[in-house]
Amino acid sequence: MGKKFKPLTPKYPHMLHGGDYNPDQWIDYPEIIEKDIELMKKAHINNVSLGIFSWAHLEPKKDVFEFEWLDKVIEKLYEAGIYINLATPSGARPHWLADEYPEVLRVDEKGVRAHFGFRHNHCMTSPVYRERVRIINTKLAQRYGKHPAVIMWHISNEYGGECHCPLCQQAFRDYLKEKYVTVEKMNHAWWARFWSHTYSSFDEVESPGAISETAINGLWLDWWRFTTYQTTDFMKNEIAAVKAVNPEIPVTTNMMGLYDGLCYPKLAKEIDFVSWDSYPYWHVPNENVKEAYTESFTHDYIRCLKMKPFILMESTTGTVNWRPVSKMKKPGMHRLAILNAIGHGAESGLYFQIRQSRGSAEKMHSAVISHTGTENTRVFKEVSELGADMKKISDLIYGSDNPAAVAIIYDKESKWALNQSNGPRNCGLDYDGLCTQYYKYFWQNGIGVDVLDSSADFKDYKIVIAPMLYMYHNDIQDKLRKYVEAGGILLSTAFSGVADENDLCFLGEATDEKLSDVFGMWVEEIDALFEEEFNETFFGNDTYKLRELCEVIHTTTAETLAVYGNDYYKDFPVITKNKYGKGIAYHIAANCEIQLIEKMCSLLAEEAKITGILGNVSIPDGIGINYRENEAKRYIFVGNFSDKEKTVSLSKTYTNILNDGVVFDDVKLEPYGIVILEEDV
Ligand code: GLA
Ligand code: ZN
Repeated sequence: MGKKFKPLTPKYPHMLHGGDYNPDQWIDYPEIIEKDIELMKKAHINNVSLGIFSWAHLEPKKDVFEFEWLDKVIEKLYEAGIYINLATPSGARPHWLADEYPEVLRVDEKGVRAHFGFRHNHCMTSPVYRERVRIINTKLAQRYGKHPAVIMWHISNEYGGECHCPLCQQAFRDYLKEKYVTVEKMNHAWWARFWSHTYSSFDEVESPGAISETAINGLWLDWWRFTTYQTTDFMKNEIAAVKAVNPEIPVTTNMMGLYDGLCYPKLAKEIDFVSWDSYPYWHVPNENVKEAYTESFTHDYIRCLKMKPFILMESTTGTVNWRPVSKMKKPGMHRLAILNAIGHGAESGLYFQIRQSRGSAEKMHSAVISHTGTENTRVFKEVSELGADMKKISDLIYGSDNPAAVAIIYDKESKWALNQSNGPRNCGLDYDGLCTQYYKYFWQNGIGVDVLDSSADFKDYKIVIAPMLYMYHNDIQDKLRKYVEAGGILLSTAFSGVADENDLCFLGEATDEKLSDVFGMWVEEIDALFEEEFNETFFGNDTYKLRELCEVIHTTTAETLAVYGNDYYKDFPVITKNKYGKGIAYHIAANCEIQLIEKMCSLLAEEAKITGILGNVSIPDGIGINYRENEAKRYIFVGNFSDKEKTVSLSKTYTNILNDGVVFDDVKLEPYGIVILEEDV
């Protein structure tokens, strides 16, 4: 039985439908703004994000504020029943600010300071920038923080990137001093005796990069940790300003999915709920299903940052304009993608953008309202039909839970270390791809998955999968050992448990630090294969390709389930199973084709006695299933991400809440079709 969560936005506790609206681009065209609002109503839009890039129009000169235009827009929207996510405008600054205070502009790793231009490129440390942001945020909060239409603060926009300016360098040194206290400790953590790189004081430290230090892996890790720390600190300064005026309005910031520049689990601690901007690459030939499970995995990662529903803050209604080939969403794809997001815990379907820009870099990006300015477009119709659907399902689904018996560990810091490991393979170690491949089986079969950072608690899951967890930190060894001991089922894969949080390799042959006791085996060496090179293994009734990384391992207490077929390690174990305490720990010593991954996942599910949410039926490829639950009902989202019609067999009768139809025996799904099946819990 699922939980019922409190509304993310108590002032308007409903599914949000709408998106980014930029009336500041249309201040001289009041008739367009009028028309937009009329069309928004037709599209069942109840929410817009305002003011994301409006700083120059809110404060055209230093300390000169102009809010009248925004007052008018907010009033008109509110009258039309449209609620507002009010943004703080720090994502792009006005000219005067950069001209008067060049320190607000970011410096790259070669020490070159940016000129005015672009966006998302300010220094996170600059006291002047923090102060100017505090002033404008306070003004906005004072004017609108208690307005009945304002339901959340949209803090900045897509925080990201790093700054190497002198202020940031000093802040980095201060961060290190606080962390290590003595320079000797830092030298040890960074293994800085290597190549005579020993530091004699914190003042000698410089950020890593193209013309400075690149050989100290621990320095890279601390630099990325610092960037997360400093961005979070910058965001806290923004939040303090708006919360000081009205602490009741929740704050969020829009994240970028699996973005590597920040460790989102840390950032998420400082906001009331998580939101994210999702732009999957639909309709790449033969890749749609992969894109679909990757997208679903990302929704689950985002949801698990706070273990509660989230807001899908941006998505596109049709095409983006920034890919080499920006494909239009085919009919149905938009509805499928948004309802799929809702199935994974989103409480919204929001788009970039409501009205298409007329000029500049995003003029060809699709919107709810295109350059035609009418409702006579396919996109508008699809958006408005979806709006009607969302209205219909809102009260049923809003606030419900996403129960999960499986956890996949997706750890950002470990990924940083892996990608900077200077290891056996410095290309093609697609950590995200590997983690999502382990997700696919569960996604297809309707088995709920939580995607978690290694700092999480795993004790309540039936299965924990830790693909290529290169870095063991956050006491993960202790947690996983206790988890298996108590009866859990764990799976790890090649190139796991290599190094600690400083990227120092664990010493010793079979050691507890590497969980050798839990897996009942130890790794002697690791071979790297070229792209076109394969080893193979015979497992069950099939032969599977092994690729990229092949560990040569020795079992101690583990049973060997499969062996390598070729090379000097032919007949060495490649899949092992170790009973430990009341549980079982599996290890796959090589990267492999997805068919073997799916086979392993089905074995784990069998072992854990978990079946898909539709019962014992076989689900065709291309279908993705997820579900939400409250105290009384369960809602199962069955989507067809392929371009072929698919039939899903059912073992009982359900109601499809999208059309109130009763579904039994089987359900036919057209390409990009979706149903939401209701049943009692
Ligand atoms: C990002 C930004 C938006 C817009 C879209 C375009 O998500 O947050 O302002 O530029 O991309 O796809
Ligand atoms: Zn800086």
